[in-house]
Amino acid sequence: MFNDRIYNFSAGPSMLPLPVLEQAAAELTNYRGSGMSVMEMSHRSKIYLSIFEETKADLKRILNVPETHEVLFMQGGAWLQFAAVPMNLMGAAGKADYAVTGNFSKLAMKEAQKYGQVTIAASSEDRNHTYIPPQEALSVSPDASYFYYCANNTIYGTEWQYVPETNGVPLVCDMSSNIMSKPIDISKYGLIFAGVQKNMAPAGMAVVIIDKKLAGKEFPFTPTMLSYQKMIDTDSMHNTPPCYTIYMLGLVLKWIDSQGGLTAMEKLKKERAGILYSFLDESKLFKSCADKDARSDMNVTFRTGDDALDDKFAKEAAKAGFENLKGHRAVGGMRASIYNAMPVEGVIKLVEFMKKFEMENK
Ligand SMILES: Cc1ncc(COP(=O)(O)O)c(C=O)c1O
Repeated sequence: MFNDRIYNFSAGPSMLPLPVLEQAAAELTNYRGSGMSVMEMSHRSKIYLSIFEETKADLKRILNVPETHEVLFMQGGAWLQFAAVPMNLMGAAGKADYAVTGNFSKLAMKEAQKYGQVTIAASSEDRNHTYIPPQEALSVSPDASYFYYCANNTIYGTEWQYVPETNGVPLVCDMSSNIMSKPIDISKYGLIFAGVQKNMAPAGMAVVIIDKKLAGKEFPFTPTMLSYQKMIDTDSMHNTPPCYTIYMLGLVLKWIDSQGGLTAMEKLKKERAGILYSFLDESKLFKSCADKDARSDMNVTFRTGDDALDDKFAKEAAKAGFENLKGHRAVGGMRASIYNAMPVEGVIKLVEFMKKFEMENK
């Protein structure tokens, strides 16, 4: 099935489902008899608009997006949302709460500090982001414009196992590395954003899901392209959107449907992560980095405790066809990113390889 493809454990951009790549390849030069590639189509043409509308409708259906919310396709990746969120939502109150549970929430917090008063509502920095603070540890300011958290910490391998209760303060969430991995209750969120390059599409875009009543209050200096209200009014087409990335997202969404939707994605992610964590729990060589009750099902971080051995492992694994297992430079060790497109078989084979490495390096 996999021909000459490797198992790519990259944190993002990461594996895309093989049938999606094959379909994109088959349609590359001539999209369904149009005589053109999707890359060559005018974004205002009838044929492209049908791709765009179907993709957006599929996304809304799969994620069960309520009528109160709108889906936007925005450029600049997740990073630009770090600025767009405060510019649009800080509003008159000028205050926001940030839960800092990893690198990306810290960076988002720093970006927000340029636009208003930011309070750290919780932090896991004291133990190098190996855990997620419980609800009791969150200090939610009732007068904050919003409460911000990152649902899955890609670098540290931790994932929030609950949705924070904010007593009416709009909840803003960076779901870049776990969106589409399980069903979510969108109505609990004021805004969700996600860079698409992990579980949704090739890089080049962020998906934003916004409660429409939060839009329209941006600071006057907000660039037009970062105004959520402008994006809502123009259906994400104020300028030329990332047409091909949107088309690829459409193919990935059809693939998710073909696998049984988000309940099937959730079952599969539990299976993949379960295989890896069970092995880590019994291994004498490898240790999982994150606290047990905060472990991510998407990014599994582990180490041997010996940097040279970690290095040797990542190198030998790559030679054996398991690529990109080296941990992020901020934490070291190893990280296996196992998003939706990673077959269960890839994790089984990785564990077999880890067992062999353990035997040889006692
Ligand atoms: C959780 C999270 N947020 C934000 C980002 C930044 O994404 P981008 O490169 O699209 O700006 C990443 C990238 O890996 C991420 O994992």
